[in-house]
Amino acid sequence: MINISILGYGTVGSGVFEIIRGNKSVITERTGQEICVKSVLDLRDFPNEPVSEVLVHDFSEIENDTEVQIVVETMGGLHPAYEFVKASLNKGKSVCTSNKALVAAFGSELLEIAAKNKCNFFFEASVGGGIPIIRPLVTSLGQEEVEEISGILNGTTNYILTEMTEKGTDFDTVLKDAQEKGYAEKDPTADVEGHDACRKIAILASLVYGASVDFEDIYTEGITKITDRDINYAKKLNAKIKITASVKNKNNKISAVVAPRIINSSQPLYSVDGVFNAILVKGNMVGDVMFYGQGAGKLATASAVIADVVEAAKNIGINTGIFWKADKVKLVPFEESVSKFFVRLSGNIADNEEKVEKAFGEVTKVDAGYNDEYGFITAPMTEGEFCSAAKELGNVINRIRVDGGNI
Ligand code: HSE
Repeated sequence: MINISILGYGTVGSGVFEIIRGNKSVITERTGQEICVKSVLDLRDFPNEPVSEVLVHDFSEIENDTEVQIVVETMGGLHPAYEFVKASLNKGKSVCTSNKALVAAFGSELLEIAAKNKCNFFFEASVGGGIPIIRPLVTSLGQEEVEEISGILNGTTNYILTEMTEKGTDFDTVLKDAQEKGYAEKDPTADVEGHDACRKIAILASLVYGASVDFEDIYTEGITKITDRDINYAKKLNAKIKITASVKNKNNKISAVVAPRIINSSQPLYSVDGVFNAILVKGNMVGDVMFYGQGAGKLATASAVIADVVEAAKNIGINTGIFWKADKVKLVPFEESVSKFFVRLSGNIADNEEKVEKAFGEVTKVDAGYNDEYGFITAPMTEGEFCSAAKELGNVINRIRVDGGNI
């Protein structure tokens, strides 16, 4: 029998507790041993609930319990999660976490501590919720040079953009609805400003490139400036606006960005709607591989945590070798990254045509039926070039990067 402890009995922690009891026989069969929840740490009490039998309020009871071999961390936040995880690893207990903030900030250090103590630090649930992505990247795709990862990594923003596209509702109304449905947090900043997706792509990038990609170095733009007009222009292009997080490796130069993009119907991410997530991995040998599923939610995320628990249980006393160096990856300066841009200018075509040609050369006009503005798509250009040209014009309402395809 393997004893585990769960730190935090919130949404994901209670999901882990529930699945371990509900799927006991399949988990035991796959692991080769029974997995038993010996203790659950939470500050609250849960009278009359089964968890009350194993509830503790003091982490040291878990830290010093030599019978606990695996710790599940589902508290979220950086502190005290970091201190508890570090202490558990130093005692030789493997840790399985869903906490992306913790992994993005302290991943390399915690992986190193796990290796030193012949245990494991696993974090499948930290990216893409229930979608298996971390383990496939290190096992099934471990032989590949990963040229690109591009994903819809945040369910809240994908839900908001999908509703805006399908129902014509404005951003603020959909956000309110998403909060009422429990998809969006009361404070939605981390989701709508792209910070959540940024941490997730930083974790995937660190994993495949073997060194720390600092989330603070990644250019990140959210969806708060996207309006119904932007969405209508995208529709005219047979496209949708999606916020994607991506990392690319071109000749050992690594670039990463999180931003809204116009994606046309021939692109694999076009059909990923609602709260779903998808991750497209381009390997140099295998080509494109896509992972799709529920990127959040109690049981989906808890299921990914339990996949880690099973793996940790099969590797007691053995470190499985997942690591990335503490050294920071130097990303290509964002000003150098190249895109086509969809641009909206105030004033009509006659007001703008000549000066647009002067600033951008030949462009492709996009007519969505608005007489008070001029929409067009530029040729591929760097961010730096775009910024100077846009400054020269002085009347840009919005600009959105355009992703390949035949647009
Ligand atoms: N807030 C996140 C999302 C939850 O909307 O995708 C999962 O990390």
